[in-house]
Amino acid sequence: MNTLFDTDIALETKGYLDLDIDPDLDLVEEINKLKKEKNAIILAHYYQDADIQDIADYIGDSLGLSQEAAATDADMIVFAGVHFMAETAKILSPDKKVLLPDLKAGCSLADACPAPVFRKFKEKYPDHVVVSYVNCTAEMKTLTDICCTSTNAVQVIESIPEDKPIIFAPDINLGRYLEKKTGRKMVLWDGSCMVHEIFSAEKIAKLLHQHPEAELIAHPECEEHLLSHASFIASTTGLLKYTQRSNTQTFIVATESGIIHQMQKASPHKTFIPAPPNNTCACNECPHMRRNTLEKLYICMKYELPEIILPDHIIRDARASIDRMLEVSAKAGL
Ligand code: 13P
Ligand code: SF4
Repeated sequence: MNTLFDTDIALETKGYLDLDIDPDLDLVEEINKLKKEKNAIILAHYYQDADIQDIADYIGDSLGLSQEAAATDADMIVFAGVHFMAETAKILSPDKKVLLPDLKAGCSLADACPAPVFRKFKEKYPDHVVVSYVNCTAEMKTLTDICCTSTNAVQVIESIPEDKPIIFAPDINLGRYLEKKTGRKMVLWDGSCMVHEIFSAEKIAKLLHQHPEAELIAHPECEEHLLSHASFIASTTGLLKYTQRSNTQTFIVATESGIIHQMQKASPHKTFIPAPPNNTCACNECPHMRRNTLEKLYICMKYELPEIILPDHIIRDARASIDRMLEVSAKAGL
């Protein structure tokens, strides 16, 4: 891929890093002004810091964010999320300017599946349909028949004729979960999310003991042994909606802790406990997602950098796999 430039390099090249942000500047006000001036929309994932979620025009999961990116009539999409999400927005809206506040905001799942290596792997299974979790690079999407997110993954798998064998990449945990849910055996790529594989089943068991009234809810990127103890498993949006409709008052939340901001807002009287990681760091915060800050968002909107630029052939070849996913989602009413 030829066109991505590192945030710091991009900004340094332009000399922007020399410009200190005035500490008295009201960033929220300035960002809102820039939004209007530039006809920009800020799309934010639930794993962003609360201040970014609060200034966003749309907050959602990977599917919702793709749908919004495809439908918006803004001239500029500012993606408060990670690189593969901004790439997906660019693929869906190639004529719009797509900005990502920090180009280093990657994803361990996308990194786990380099397209050239996957291309070789795929050659061993010429009759297989390739289903890729949307958490993968644009180049990987060009090798994919149909993408999925955790919201529509079951429907995507079920849309494939039963006699067609499937390769599922890059998330082995989501893959195993889908095998159970759909009864389809698949060839699984061995990738995982660095945040969702670090939860401590032992500490969660202790928490459940201390809070017998609590329910463990989990994202399907978590490991199988943890999912087996969860009373509800879904995408971020699915988990958020569940906490709203459930009568339970206390939840142990096994996904990136950023989602708790929306859970708490929607259900202020309920208690949300972030599932603890198996060490003392803040590992249930995605280090990639949390690279974005209000300051970077402001700089990015002001200077319209860094921008996601993809070669035309990548946009063309990757688009089909996302369009198919959106068609399946629309049919399923998702
Ligand atoms: P969803 O928000 O689609 O559930 O995905 C979670 C995630 O890990 C995004 O990186
Ligand atoms: Fe990737 Fe995991 Fe971070 Fe999501 S939470 S962006 S899957 S590393």
